[in-house]
Amino acid sequence: MPTAAHPPARITRDDYERLYADSVRDPDAFWGRIAQRIDWMRAPTQVRDVSFDVADFRIRWYGDGELNASVNCLDRHLDTRGDKPALIFEPDDPSQPAQHVSYRELHARVCRLGNALRHLGVRKGDRVTIYLPMIVDAVVAMLACARIGAVHSVVFGGFAPQSIADRIADCGSKLVITADEGLRGGKRIALKANVDAALAMHGTNSVETVLVVRHTGAGVDMQMPRDRWFDAVVDSQHAHCEPERMNAEDPLFILYTSGSTGKPKGVLHTTGGYLVYASYTHECVFDLREDDVYWCTADVGWITGHSYIVYGPLANGATALVFEGVPNYPDVSRFWNVIDKHRVTLFYTAPTAIRALMREGDAPVTSTSRASLRLLGTVGEPINPEAWRWYHDVVGDARCPIVDTWWQTETGGILISPLPHAGTPKPGSATKPLPGVRPALVDANGELLDGEAEGNLVILDSWPGQMRTVYGDHPRFIDTYFKTYPGMYFTGDGCRRDADGDYWITGRVDDVINVSGHRIGTAEVESALVGHAGVAEAAVVGFPHDLKGQGIHAFVTLKAGIEPSDALRSELVQCVRTGIGPIATPDRIQWAPGLPKTRSGKIMRRILRKIAEGATEQLGDTSTLADPGVVESLVADRTAS
Ligand code: WT7
Repeated sequence: MPTAAHPPARITRDDYERLYADSVRDPDAFWGRIAQRIDWMRAPTQVRDVSFDVADFRIRWYGDGELNASVNCLDRHLDTRGDKPALIFEPDDPSQPAQHVSYRELHARVCRLGNALRHLGVRKGDRVTIYLPMIVDAVVAMLACARIGAVHSVVFGGFAPQSIADRIADCGSKLVITADEGLRGGKRIALKANVDAALAMHGTNSVETVLVVRHTGAGVDMQMPRDRWFDAVVDSQHAHCEPERMNAEDPLFILYTSGSTGKPKGVLHTTGGYLVYASYTHECVFDLREDDVYWCTADVGWITGHSYIVYGPLANGATALVFEGVPNYPDVSRFWNVIDKHRVTLFYTAPTAIRALMREGDAPVTSTSRASLRLLGTVGEPINPEAWRWYHDVVGDARCPIVDTWWQTETGGILISPLPHAGTPKPGSATKPLPGVRPALVDANGELLDGEAEGNLVILDSWPGQMRTVYGDHPRFIDTYFKTYPGMYFTGDGCRRDADGDYWITGRVDDVINVSGHRIGTAEVESALVGHAGVAEAAVVGFPHDLKGQGIHAFVTLKAGIEPSDALRSELVQCVRTGIGPIATPDRIQWAPGLPKTRSGKIMRRILRKIAEGATEQLGDTSTLADPGVVESLVADRTAS
């Protein structure tokens, strides 16, 4: 695929070993060459400047390079691909027309919004919060920010007002782009009303303007002069917008993600390295060709949408599908019907969706053709071999390779994944690192493990797509990722490496729960629960869940004199839904007269996890507990419920 300016990234079995060895022997040469795949306004002469040593910490890539990400995603395709669809929009309601947006049209729309943002006083370095449904304007909004050097912070449309407010307050956004409503599975989501509620909350008065996209046409409250209709401000703007020259290390975006402690972290990605990495990995992992129709079912509110709907595919001049809807509306054949309708060749989704659709049997799949499909991908959580085989045999008719891609918000792009033409697939394994990536396993003491082993997954050296900091809290960045195992990036994942050197991710080893591929911090759910006046204390753990991968089990201790009841249970669920969003809804709330604690008062989650799993015969050593009786009562209640 891409332009002749850089070597093809397609990697065969024969190439892989050699390419990998070369890449880690001379990373400067390797990443210097890969950087040539994008257009620079000033070509970098420096490749990497990296130290994971906390005393002398730095991560810089292509430090003297200058570029603009939107120019790479738009302008550079206009001569050769101006009429090619950049995006195909498939609406929630299949009876509504799909839209094809060419590179030329997308360029004009981005330029108009870029000019409008400048007109509204947004300048290079200012933060803009984007809270939109999965519509073309979400992509336009991200690229318009990139064009004028504003830093976007996309907030997933499923988040509640409190979460929006926290994210606005943390980065001090000047402007919010939202829509009247979203539409998912025929249900309306009151996006503008959520923004109104968020802006009434503490800490959000940095926001001067709210741009409102007319999407469903629903009536909304417009608060003048703060609120402006998007079309009224944007349509009259000029379709040429001078792109800002950005240094490679200037911020491109912030994306909030949950960790084991405290509030979500603002993961900051910069411009040059991120774009090189997103475009490179999108091409080699998906074996991208010029005429592909590529569909990633993620939402742009997650990193998968940033890297593999927007920046990677568009930098590569690909055609990407933007889907507003859900897998089971109007029926459970929707994915496969959309694939047939738009002749999708590359399909990328989450194991949780595959498991949910697998449960519906083969007929909704086999009644469709899917003949256009060439490759399938998964992301977000470990895929169980049964779901992998169904995806391969039924969805892919046993003729499409599967790429099980392991990565994180923090990594910016895929780090470990099979390459479609290299190696033998193994259901459930993300297999091997991409060229240039150096994973390793360590034991609890940080000792590197050789050969076949199980331990904690670390990355020994930087790659261009690595996050650079936690917005506004650099010490937290270093503490979270580089202190557990000095000199190494700690992923938070457990992992096994087999005798062939293939990696099998086993899941988070920290207090992060992966619910349907979404990261939920236990601390956030606990803080939403203790926000209820009747709750004294709460401890939240994950447990294995057939469809979601992990479910949320909350142990709740009530204040003296408060009686457990079903009504109270609903109130607590509501606290979480309005405090975070429906994705964090606890599957179970167990009343806990007390929580197992060490004598120093630390909650022993290891024990709570075993109780939630029902593995009560493996509780391990409980002798260090302040009151071992607490555990017996929790086990008895869990068995009874
Ligand atoms: C966590 C990162 C990266 C985009 C979506 C999630 C888990 C991700 C896989 C995979 C096993 C996976 C890990 C990781 N994860 N992909 N292919 N196999 N686990 O991004 O919200 O930052 O979550 O998702 O536990 O640490 P995220």
